Amino acid sequence: MTNSALMTRNETLNIESELKPENRTEIAEKLGKVLASTYVLYHKTQGFHWNVTGPMFISVHELTETQYKDLAAAIDDIAERVRTLGAPAPMGLAGYVGDSQVLDQSEFPTVGQMLETLARDHLTVADEMRGIVEAAEQVKDVYTADLLTARIGAHEEAAWMLKALAAS
Ligand SMILES: [Fe+2]
Repeated sequence: MTNSALMTRNETLNIESELKPENRTEIAEKLGKVLASTYVLYHKTQGFHWNVTGPMFISVHELTETQYKDLAAAIDDIAERVRTLGAPAPMGLAGYVGDSQVLDQSEFPTVGQMLETLARDHLTVADEMRGIVEAAEQVKDVYTADLLTARIGAHEEAAWMLKALAAS
């Protein structure tokens, strides 16, 4: 039995754009990888937020809260860009850990090591994004380039704040 309503929704629209289908797929795949890095950094930031102890508790607890909230919003933006480019947004935590350039971590280090680790991880994600900005610009995916350029600024600022706090 054919459902005419479903057939209408499944119709393929042949809309031409300067952003070619094969290039969209390539950029979406790279975005999926940096989504994984961002997700692992989000989880690690929240883990440190929960487990930090000592005289720097309030400062680290509050800074990490601001940062994991920013990362959560970025995760949503990146995943929805993947969908906009026509690819499925990756699901499954094991895949995220495998694709991430940020190392997953289950032990709690000292406060100094937490700050240093997060600062380094933010710069790792920024560098991964820099490579994708270049790839996106080459295929005229200026929206992705713009989204990631803004994220690079946010990651660099986060790294600065973590390092500044570590120096106190
Ligand atoms: Fe909290």
